[in-house]
Amino acid sequence: MEDIYSNPELYDALHEDIKTDKNVITHYAKQCDGPVLEIASGTGRLAKYIIDLGLPYTGIDNSDAFVKSAVNNFAQGGEFILQDMRNFNLEKQYEFAFIGFNSFLHNLNDTDALSCLKSINKHLSSSGLFLLSIFQPDPLFLYQDEYLHEARSFFNYKGKQCRMMEKNSYDDDTQINSLTWYLEIDGVLSKETYSFEQRMYYPHKMDILFDQANFKVLEKFGDWNMVPLQEESPLQIYVCKSNRQQ
Ligand SMILES: C[S@@+](CC[C@H](N)C(=O)[O-])C[C@H]1O[C@@H](n2cnc3c(N)ncnc32)[C@H](O)[C@@H]1O
Repeated sequence: MEDIYSNPELYDALHEDIKTDKNVITHYAKQCDGPVLEIASGTGRLAKYIIDLGLPYTGIDNSDAFVKSAVNNFAQGGEFILQDMRNFNLEKQYEFAFIGFNSFLHNLNDTDALSCLKSINKHLSSSGLFLLSIFQPDPLFLYQDEYLHEARSFFNYKGKQCRMMEKNSYDDDTQINSLTWYLEIDGVLSKETYSFEQRMYYPHKMDILFDQANFKVLEKFGDWNMVPLQEESPLQIYVCKSNRQQ
């Protein structure tokens, strides 16, 4: 079984059509109008939007394969650095920092989550904004009892029609969801499998973490239409500033 973040070509094929987060992220990047830091930048799916705006862009990620792929894709216009979001120091401050697309869920415990937020806070200028987006934990999804279901509908990969099937197993104690992806190629399940883990964070936990990491939350949205966060919202999108004394 491989790490899902070891195959940039497959990741890009899977996520080619996902653009729902573009408008809100570019809205805040434009508003901040300065250097942008993306945490867990991957192969540069979101980096592209910032680079297209002409803003200085830095992305950090701890997958060597993904950082190399991003450097290759965006040789001009952005920098991509191999760093662990749980503790990093770039010795620079940014006007806009963001961690999108559930990447924050890879902080698998409170210690890592808090350390990650504190590292981000250090990199935010006094006028800067920080955006974080994750999904709301959904019991119907978490407690599927290892049932094989579709994770991503049909996509093209290496000239074949593929589908990503998924099984998950949720541990109540650790609040960690362990996922396995099975690649279906031309209607047949292949031997290619990928794994990853996500810790579930509920809104009340995010409030505590932001407070402990010295962030002031300015906005809480429940989807990419910027509707206020509610109990049944699909997403949690937070826009914060630093409370740190400059
Ligand atoms: C869901 S992908 C998001 C990538 C990209 N931001 C996007 O929107 O397509 C999650 C990313 O988090 C990265 N990641 C996981 N754990 C990390 C860590 N501890 N430090 C930095 N990056 C990490 C993975 O390598 C992967 O690129």
